[in-house]
Amino acid sequence: MAKKAVPKASTKKPAKKSSIIITKQIKQISKKNPHAASLIPQCKPTLVKPAKLSGKIVVTAALPYANGPIHLGHMVEYIQADIYSRFLKLAGKEVIYCCADDTHGTPIEINAMKEGIAPEQLIDRYHREHQQDFSDFLVAFDNFYSTNSPENKKYAEYFFKKLQEAGLLYQKDVELTYCEKCSRFLPDRYVKGRCPKCKTDDQYGDVCEKCNATYTTTDLVDPYCTICGTTPVRKLSRHYFFKLSACSDALKNWISNHPKLQKEVKHYVLNWVNEGLKDWCISRDGPYFGFRIPGEDDKYFYVWLDAPIGYIASTTNYTARHKQDIDDYWKRGSVIHFIGKDIIYFHLLFWPAELMVTGFTLPENIIVHGHLTVNGEKMSKSRGTFITAREYLKLLPPEYLRFYYAANLSHTMSDIDLNFDDFRNKVNNELVADLANFTYRTLSFVNKNFDSRVTSFSPKFAEKLGQGLPRLFQAIRAAYEDVNFREAVKLILEASSLGNKVFQENEPWKLVKTDKAKAQEVVSFCASLIKDLSIAVAPILPNFSTQVQQQITVRDLSWKDVGVPLKDHTIGEAKIVLRKLEGEIDRLKPGPSGEADPFAKVDLRVGKILEVKKHPDAEKLFVEVVDLGKLGKRIIVSGLAQYYHPDELVGKHVVIVANLQPAKLRGVERQGMLLAGEDAAGNVGVLEAPQSDSGSQVYVEGILSKPLPQIIIKEFEQVHINIESNVAVYKGKSLKTEFEEIVCDRIERGNVH
Ligand code: MSP
Ligand code: ZN
Repeated sequence: MAKKAVPKASTKKPAKKSSIIITKQIKQISKKNPHAASLIPQCKPTLVKPAKLSGKIVVTAALPYANGPIHLGHMVEYIQADIYSRFLKLAGKEVIYCCADDTHGTPIEINAMKEGIAPEQLIDRYHREHQQDFSDFLVAFDNFYSTNSPENKKYAEYFFKKLQEAGLLYQKDVELTYCEKCSRFLPDRYVKGRCPKCKTDDQYGDVCEKCNATYTTTDLVDPYCTICGTTPVRKLSRHYFFKLSACSDALKNWISNHPKLQKEVKHYVLNWVNEGLKDWCISRDGPYFGFRIPGEDDKYFYVWLDAPIGYIASTTNYTARHKQDIDDYWKRGSVIHFIGKDIIYFHLLFWPAELMVTGFTLPENIIVHGHLTVNGEKMSKSRGTFITAREYLKLLPPEYLRFYYAANLSHTMSDIDLNFDDFRNKVNNELVADLANFTYRTLSFVNKNFDSRVTSFSPKFAEKLGQGLPRLFQAIRAAYEDVNFREAVKLILEASSLGNKVFQENEPWKLVKTDKAKAQEVVSFCASLIKDLSIAVAPILPNFSTQVQQQITVRDLSWKDVGVPLKDHTIGEAKIVLRKLEGEIDRLKPGPSGEADPFAKVDLRVGKILEVKKHPDAEKLFVEVVDLGKLGKRIIVSGLAQYYHPDELVGKHVVIVANLQPAKLRGVERQGMLLAGEDAAGNVGVLEAPQSDSGSQVYVEGILSKPLPQIIIKEFEQVHINIESNVAVYKGKSLKTEFEEIVCDRIERGNVH
């Protein structure tokens, strides 16, 4: 069930995201600046344009990072915006749907470096992949561009210049975290350490996952660089700041008077404004993949500066190719953004402020959606609920997901859940049983009994049978206009149910024998309704719509054709377009959540100890190098120093948790965990599989092993392995490899940890 979302909008709140310290003083100075508001003459409430939706419209969806595959969470947004822009086109508006890959930033630069390729190569590869995913999901962008484009560079520099001219930029030295080994400043995802507040180990540089404290990278205790593992230093660097605080009043006015923004969105944003806006650091030090700041040697625009500008750049690229004028969209037209709730701050504060200063059109609407959960769980790789667009497309047709999302998307920030049972029910019982069957049933009947001829029918007859239809279709249109697709789907299904009812109650299969003309009138009425339905569902199910229209030999219909009955004419051959689902969706399933045995998630392997050293900083710890065969070599940190001499361990075939999330133990990263047993007397001994090859799987009979890519230590703690008669046992059954049982020579009876 979709639950009311509390937007975690703050997760991408840049004050946390960036590792820049903004001192209280600065905040106070800009707050006190009496000239601040007058710095931006454009920022007057009168600038708020009345809602119009006339002229040219550009619809956008947030630009996906060119740093990973498109997943089903992303698809919520690209499908939602696609449905809306398709609807507007169908309603006769001049609309283009523009997007681009968001190509800049540290992660892209670092990932390219790790792969040994240039960032340009990495983003090209993702661009091709993304484009294919979108087109296979029937997302019809008029332009899918890139932020790493000449147009975007030009506009980013223009924005920078305009901000500077308006007196809204200043420079300031800030103290940052710097890795001397990597020769780079470390953004918060690239430095970990102990939370300054609750002291939990291994927290990122912006927020503690345990106690939710937020801080900057320089606050971390015992920080280490996640790239090379060494301890970083603090270093000063001079950066550019945008005086967002000076735009507070203008933003407040714009938001509170905006006629269309969701209430809940306004509420959040106005709260932030009232709390006091912090100035925003818009530059980053090299190495960075992005646009170099004019006049600087090694400073770049922060990715979030040039990303939204990418909306304009993508539009410009389109208008240039289509001999249109960019100003018809971004100066005189309407701009409608679709975004997720995690990026509200950027789109409702920074972006409108920038637009005010530069004199571009402020968004006519910003539609904010919630996040996708899968079977009630957050999408995550380790939970197996992370489903890529491609994984879905390998198993299922795109329109099932489009339909399911539409049926769940109203104009709110509520999260939407992809529940597999619900998905199957909706697809089978609503989409196929109702809409698609009505279509096939009617058209094949016309094929068989009337030589494919439909006739006109008397308006009186239509009125009697189709009572309420005109109002229903009007309401469908209004639901689309309100971006309430859930309502649109509900009403479309009402209309097709009505059609099914007319067919059922008039029994044309009987009537055809007694009053053939009447029977033809009934099915012709139904055929006209099918034509109307094909128009109404087109934004959601574009392929289905086209195929149905081909079957009734009509085409290029638009919303104004709704309610215009089909004239006498011959239809084509009826074909089944959408079929019921069987088990396909379950193959996307990582196994019923919660029900799987915790043992199944763990990847236990035999590993041969190659090398044992004392931990440099901890007396009780050993650092071992273990060979896991095909899985490669791993560094293991174990608490065995009190119990073994290093020579005793070298060469042993031990048991390793191979999918444990890596973590630092006193400065050394462990990439797995070695299993040992302990008895009541405190004796400790390692588990062994002396006859088994490195990399062999360790299993328990009757438990189907389905290891997750990664598990956390808590998940492993749920697996209680014991030693009984020197053999490792789980739930009464011995742990085995294909060669032998897992043994523990030193311990007769005890627990494993
Ligand atoms: N690159 C930025 C956006 C820049 S726009 C000028 C970004 N990229 S993203 O790839 O992380 O996300 C793109 C869009 O997909 C965002 O609107 C985001 O909210 C949305 N989604 C990403 N994961 C999502 C879910 N799990 N569920 C629903 N939408 C999600 O942010
Ligand atoms: Zn480093």
